[in-house]
Amino acid sequence: SRLDPDPEFIGFINNVTYPAGREAILACSVRNLGKNKVGWLRASDQTVLALQGRVVTHNARISVMHQDMHTWKLKISKLRESDRGCYMCQINTSPMKKQVGCIDVQVPPDIINEESSADLAVQEGEDATLTCKATGNPQPRVTWRREDGEMILIRKPGSRELMKVESYNGSSLRLLRLERRQMGAYLCIASNDVPPAVSKRVSLSVHHHHHHH
Ligand SMILES: *[C@@H]1O[C@H](CO)[C@@H](O)[C@H](O)[C@H]1NC(C)=O
Ligand SMILES: *[C@@H]1O[C@H](CO)[C@@H](O)[C@H](O)[C@H]1NC(C)=O
Repeated sequence: SRLDPDPEFIGFINNVTYPAGREAILACSVRNLGKNKVGWLRASDQTVLALQGRVVTHNARISVMHQDMHTWKLKISKLRESDRGCYMCQINTSPMKKQVGCIDVQVPPDIINEESSADLAVQEGEDATLTCKATGNPQPRVTWRREDGEMILIRKPGSRELMKVESYNGSSLRLLRLERRQMGAYLCIASNDVPPAVSKRVSLSVHHHHHHH
């Protein structure tokens, strides 16, 4: 009847961040629901996942829990990257009322071999670029070191001098006009907030330049 107070949300849905494989819970609280119903939808494509206490999607990783009269929880277990996104808690009033909560799924770093440097051999005086392409969420940082713990020798563009650095941050390590002493095994290390960090070894050989007569 007109005397029934309208349903309304209590507070907001918290956004959550979890590593892949774990479970995420979004909680939606409503007062004065009356005869109305609460549903959970995937915001991106409006797929209905649950209505009241019942899951209506064919996804065994999704469940709903109804607690303390007011709270409907959406639980997604064994999180996958594809679960990243926002979810809508909807009350079927007219017009309908909705609230959104988002799930971020963290993924440990991975190095894509096909898009990263293999061992390489160049002649003295030539340039080389060592590249490591890493994926993950958050986007991993890539750091280069020498495997033997020695300093990396880098020549700035247009400079004669080789500069010594312990490490180099960036996915591409550009080495200009190589000298023999820059030969060695280099490690690219990809890391983000999600362990474990991963590394790849790239061996660089620098050969004497042969003069042809
Ligand atoms: C959750 O994230 C969405 C999208 O970024 C944002 O609109 C909303 O305000 C956030 N909710 C809270 C409680 O911070
Ligand atoms: C590389 O990045 C790390 C982490 O962000 C930082 O602590 C370090 O100082 C950086 N090194 C260089 C040479 O920029």
